[in-house]
Amino acid sequence: MFNGSEEISMEDAANRVKTGIPGFDELCGGGLIRDRTYLVSGTSGAGKTIFSIQFIYNGIVNHGENGIIVATEERPEQIRENMLNFGWDLQALEDEGKLAIIDACSTKIGIPSQEKYVDVRPFDTRSMMDQIIATQEEIDAKRALVDSTTSISFYLHDPARIRVELLKLSTTLEIIGLTSMMTCEIIDESKPSRFGVENFVTDGTFALYYDRRDNVRSRSVEIYKMRGSDHSKKVHPYDIEKEGFVIHPHEEVYTSF
Ligand SMILES: Nc1ncnc2c1ncn2[C@@H]1O[C@H](COP(=O)(O)OP(=O)(O)OP(=O)(O)O)[C@@H](O)[C@H]1O
Ligand SMILES: [Mg+2]
Repeated sequence: MFNGSEEISMEDAANRVKTGIPGFDELCGGGLIRDRTYLVSGTSGAGKTIFSIQFIYNGIVNHGENGIIVATEERPEQIRENMLNFGWDLQALEDEGKLAIIDACSTKIGIPSQEKYVDVRPFDTRSMMDQIIATQEEIDAKRALVDSTTSISFYLHDPARIRVELLKLSTTLEIIGLTSMMTCEIIDESKPSRFGVENFVTDGTFALYYDRRDNVRSRSVEIYKMRGSDHSKKVHPYDIEKEGFVIHPHEEVYTSF
């Protein structure tokens, strides 16, 4: 069992950006490295959106670190409604100027948006970066989420272009002082990303698995990579409970790949 205390100093652990997701920070030396970008990959319904919004929500509520969510696949109003199930009142945080949700979904599908923050050129990563930079200045954000990268990647199609554009995006987030997560939809759980490049342009990859064995599905998480840090090399079960993700760091599961 990984025990971060031997490899990571107390000082280093204290400087980490806490996700506050129960059980997760202790798997990666006390939290994320500040101003780095992490990929959260998983199949449909694995929990990528809930996991990464829990990181943003905890940052605001428990650490005074404001957050930005770029929503490319779900309209902000659906996200607000879904997250209320966990008691996370995103609208209240937006009203207090602590959270900004950028609607990068409506324009893409050709419907009007009533949102305060709208990405009008959602397939253009330059436009997305400009919007994030402006929003970060406005609300002094320290954490960000791009959920998800997959529609941008489908649009770009060519893995070489996807790699360059996502590298520009992740580097921009880091330079402007955001500790970030980007999600990536996968269809094959034996691979850490959809186009085989997303995990190379991010500093870490967290894989969420949603396996079926016989007639039951079970959930587990693996820290597939984390540059600059030791971390658990095991696959740990998690549950989605009424307060969100709960990871069981002292239990292990065995995957078939
Ligand atoms: N209130 C809840 N309590 C327990 N589990 C829930 C709750 N709400 C959602 N879930 C579980 O979480 C799943 C959705 O999680 P989430 O939206 O984070 O997945 P995702 O990986 O982002 O999926 P997608 O790729 O479709 O965007 C649901 O399919 C359901 O299994
Ligand atoms: Mg999602």
